[in-house]
Amino acid sequence: MERFKIFVTRRIPETGLEKLRAACQVEVWQGDLPPERDTLIEKVRGMDGILCLLSDRVDREIMDAAGGQLRAISTYAVGTDNIDLDEATRRGIPVGHTPGVLTEACADLAFALLMAAARKVVLGDRQVREGLWRTWEPQGWLGADVHRATLGLVGFGRIGQAVARRAAGFDMRVLYFDPSVQDPADGMGQAVELDEILRESDFVSLHAPLTPDTRHLINRESIKKMKAGAILVNTARGGLVDQDALAEGLSSGHLAGAALDVTDPEPLPTGHALLGMENVIITPHIASASRATREQMALIAADNLLAGLRGERLPFCANPRVYLK
Ligand code: GLV
Ligand code: GLV
Repeated sequence: MERFKIFVTRRIPETGLEKLRAACQVEVWQGDLPPERDTLIEKVRGMDGILCLLSDRVDREIMDAAGGQLRAISTYAVGTDNIDLDEATRRGIPVGHTPGVLTEACADLAFALLMAAARKVVLGDRQVREGLWRTWEPQGWLGADVHRATLGLVGFGRIGQAVARRAAGFDMRVLYFDPSVQDPADGMGQAVELDEILRESDFVSLHAPLTPDTRHLINRESIKKMKAGAILVNTARGGLVDQDALAEGLSSGHLAGAALDVTDPEPLPTGHALLGMENVIITPHIASASRATREQMALIAADNLLAGLRGERLPFCANPRVYLK
């Protein structure tokens, strides 16, 4: 293969980079932070391929800056809301992503957050360190039971279903809402409307992609419909939740807690209301962050990019309509 030129927007696990270096001329952004917009525009110039992260916005301007020779875009993530897929499709550029390999890791973290929020694990730890644990407390740090509670899953794709499998071990009743799932595995849960999820669930966990239709799916109105004392878990995308409405729902005491692995923006600005709340857990977008999962993601992201450069079908393509033309 001719030496294709590619730009990788951050250091990803070496397994993926080695694969790319074997076939391409690779430039890797060495910063600990994403390249600034102007720098990204500069860096993609003349590239045949771009391997980006979810923190890089890849739109028409970036594709224009790269130039007409751009053959493939590969994101080191399953979500593709940062990429203008329609624009890429119009240009005949396939976009790769990394579903599948991160399903179980993401479901693990969603369940960890659910349990931590229910049983005040993070608050308890913080208060122990602050010297606030004086004795065994008959009525201190009381939380909600996870076992036999009702779990509502908004989004029942690979990750939502993996969370449902975990919930089965805790004897939870599982409801799910997902208009795009036709034929889910039997017995994993009950398909219901979103309103029923909100009304019935002790825990609502989000597993939907961020699209114009799902932005602020959890808003003032939907939070009002949630059961008093419910807990919201979000490991999908921050934009699914109207955070001002969430902060109100928490400070009024209507909701018992929230556990968020994703926010909008990321990170939240210092002083944001959610950062000051005791009943909120926020983790730094780490759902896929196990060593093994990130290595798998790096390999798949590399394979997707290499296939696109060679004009072969991407193993995991986010805009398969690019092949219909
Ligand atoms: C992580 O958020 C991903 O989309 O892979
Ligand atoms: C709790 O530690 C108990 O023994 O009940």
